[in-house]
Amino acid sequence: MTNKLLPMLRTSAALVALAGSGVGIASLLVPTFAAGQSAPPAAGEVVGNAERGLTKAATCLGCHSIPGYKADFPIVYSVPMIGGQNAKYIESALKAYRKGERRFPSMIATARSLSDQDIADVAAYFSSQR
Ligand code: HEC
Repeated sequence: MTNKLLPMLRTSAALVALAGSGVGIASLLVPTFAAGQSAPPAAGEVVGNAERGLTKAATCLGCHSIPGYKADFPIVYSVPMIGGQNAKYIESALKAYRKGERRFPSMIATARSLSDQDIADVAAYFSSQR
């Protein structure tokens, strides 16, 4: 046996011992994994997923990704560029529309159709754009 293998064996022996003692291995491994990521989510916080967000953003793109950021129905009006915005900013804007704190009819209707998870996902998607 080489010296390199020894620490590994010791670790797995320790894990087996812990598993036997009733400590969940998952609870030991999850914090280790999260340490490599950005800030770990607080308990109960919804984590957005950009890939899922893309599938939910189809309706948004019709307004928010048009050239020049101008919609032309029923009149020509400007639409804010949200691609590349901070995810937290997008999230709080959508929640404000959902609550009616921000008033813009089509955005209130849009935001009311989104769950917290949908909002986190589309925010992750738009913030991942350049
Ligand atoms: C019918 C066109 C339309 C659609 C569809 C639409 N938006 Fe909007 N959105 C707008 C307009 C116009 C505004 C600016 C409204 C205002 O002045 O408050 C806006 C504002 C926003 C803002 C606030 C931006 C800022 O900087 O203030 C966010 C975030 C946003 N939309 C996200 C979305 C998302 C996510 C979707 C899809 C789920 C979506 N919108 C669908 C037209 C649209």
